[in-house]
Amino acid sequence: MIDLARVSKIYESPAGPITVLRDLDLHVAAGESVAVVGPSGSGKTTLLNLLGALDQPTAGTVTIDGQALGALAPAAAARFRNRSIGFIFQLHYLLPQCTVLENVLVPRLAGGWDEPVATTRARAEALLEQVGLRDRLTHLPWQLSGGEQLRAAIARALINQPKLILADEPTGSLDPATGERIADLLLRTNAAARVALVVVTHNPALAARMATTYQFEHGRLVPQRGTSR
Ligand SMILES: Nc1ncnc2c1ncn2[C@@H]1O[C@H](COP(=O)(O)OP(=O)(O)O)[C@@H](O)[C@H]1O
Ligand SMILES: [Mg+2]
Repeated sequence: MIDLARVSKIYESPAGPITVLRDLDLHVAAGESVAVVGPSGSGKTTLLNLLGALDQPTAGTVTIDGQALGALAPAAAARFRNRSIGFIFQLHYLLPQCTVLENVLVPRLAGGWDEPVATTRARAEALLEQVGLRDRLTHLPWQLSGGEQLRAAIARALINQPKLILADEPTGSLDPATGERIADLLLRTNAAARVALVVVTHNPALAARMATTYQFEHGRLVPQRGTSR
């Protein structure tokens, strides 16, 4: 599902270039779950942006679901993102003028869907129930707590039945019980539909639930002992 080959990312800055990823290789199969851990500034978000076709590497190739992302023009990259990838960002960018239910349905607006709206809507409601927001469908984002906003964003990330879920600290603002519930949902989705799951987290309990944990070290990913590879 994910194939990174000799990927480097170098940011230019007034103080000189910053090498964040260095000849990084990563393979994640369909149905695999991966945790990425590492200190602040080690490159975790940079990696997710490359995996999600939001940014380009300085060198190397990123292939997702057989598609070389470097070959995609911006409009095609946007379409690919919308259809294949579910993002859970740290800043969740809910549309302020739309209700919770409408926010979850936003990816549906991009087109290319071959199912009736009512079917998507029913799935949106089921997802919102699973994240514990059944009674918040008509709330606007500002009427939600931070953790509820995050959970709405998680439901939105899953509405398009992605092949790959990318999550940046999905339990960061949640209490342990709610975090556990979100981890259950992500892992259930991962197992049921063979969705690949890549989770960046500082939460050791969440990392431990993924099949494999990689630690960022000097711009590369090192598998942790005790995980599956
Ligand atoms: N657009 C950018 N331009 C310049 N430097 C950047 C940019 N994005 C990230 N960086 C730098 O790259 C490093 C890795 O950032 P990031 O991937 O966000 O780390 P993490 O998510 O692990 O905390 C940081 O030192 C950050 O300052
Ligand atoms: Mg980050």
